[in-house]
Amino acid sequence: MRILGIETSCDETAVAVVEDGTRVLGSVISSQREHFSASGGVIPEDAARQQLSCMLPVLHACLTKANVSPDSIHAIAVTKGPGLLGSLLVGTTTARVLAEIWGKPLIGVHHTLGHLSSTWLLPEEGKEHTQPLPHFPILTLSVSGGHSDLWLRHSHLRGTLLGSTRDDAAGEAFDKGASMLGLPYPGGPSIAKAAGDGERTAYDFPSPLHEDPSLDFSFSGLKTSLRYLLRDLGKPPSELSATERKNIAASYEHAICRHLIDRIERALKRHPEIAEVHIVGGVSANRYLRSALGNALTSNPHTAHIMLRWPCSIAYCTDNAAMIAAAGYFTLQEKPLEVTKSFTTEASIDLRNVLKCS
Ligand code: KG4
Ligand code: ZN
Repeated sequence: MRILGIETSCDETAVAVVEDGTRVLGSVISSQREHFSASGGVIPEDAARQQLSCMLPVLHACLTKANVSPDSIHAIAVTKGPGLLGSLLVGTTTARVLAEIWGKPLIGVHHTLGHLSSTWLLPEEGKEHTQPLPHFPILTLSVSGGHSDLWLRHSHLRGTLLGSTRDDAAGEAFDKGASMLGLPYPGGPSIAKAAGDGERTAYDFPSPLHEDPSLDFSFSGLKTSLRYLLRDLGKPPSELSATERKNIAASYEHAICRHLIDRIERALKRHPEIAEVHIVGGVSANRYLRSALGNALTSNPHTAHIMLRWPCSIAYCTDNAAMIAAAGYFTLQEKPLEVTKSFTTEASIDLRNVLKCS
């Protein structure tokens, strides 16, 4: 079953065709990352205007790349929210028009459900993929610029939110930290690059919510510590020595990742039935997070058997339409009646209402 996915929730315009929720026939993303790099963040009206002009070229490029005609597409899945309203409207309006003129079912997908589905996407043809498909129950850490959530998932459409952030998202902690260090947006890749071979414990950052028994996250304290550290060094970021810069970036990256890993370890202790741990969303692209989490799991005899996965390509960690098409497919499989329901395009929607166990 082939699903056309459309994603425009932030600054990207993305279209993909995915077969059976796993095989990507074509995925095209037009990103405004460089455009917004100079302004240090996304300007919503500006993003929507640009998305309006590239929506149809991206759609055509994707259909050509996937080599499919509208006749062979079974349904259209589109991000209905959360996100920037103007941007979301570009995608959902396009999807509504296509569904009408092509006569296809239309599925409104929660953006984060897309991220949760991204670990099912297989590498492009020709690249090795020998691993079996994931199996539930799965602990999924979903970390991006807009959210940081820890889910215990029993199926694609059933799960419990174990914890989420009380303030900034993990990606925001990277973005704001990078901005304080005078590094370009998006901050995650900038900080990872600046960290290089820096010392991970050269500077002391607090362990957020250490005494708190919940599985929630908090990143604002780390951000404040970085601000104080830079203030105490008494010079602007441009005057930091190369060693200072890489050690600060490495210590800050370590502190963010340690907090994420700490929550995963606690969740695994409380839920020994968990078979796999998945990390998804923009921050799951972080190499240090991947290796530190892998080491944490394998060095503990209680968790060494757990399968750790992240999306097979960096392009599926950050916002993309293939994950939306995959989520649309799984929705069709598990809740076929969803496709007959109309949906509204909304800037904020709670995923708990979508995944609630019935
Ligand atoms: O999932 P995503 O593309 O968009 C949202 O839904 O927010 O995530 C974007 C976030 C940004 O905050 C960016 O700094 C972060 O993901 N990010 C990273 C890395 N690549 C992107 N954070 C840490 N390390 C990375 N390599
Ligand atoms: Zn996202």
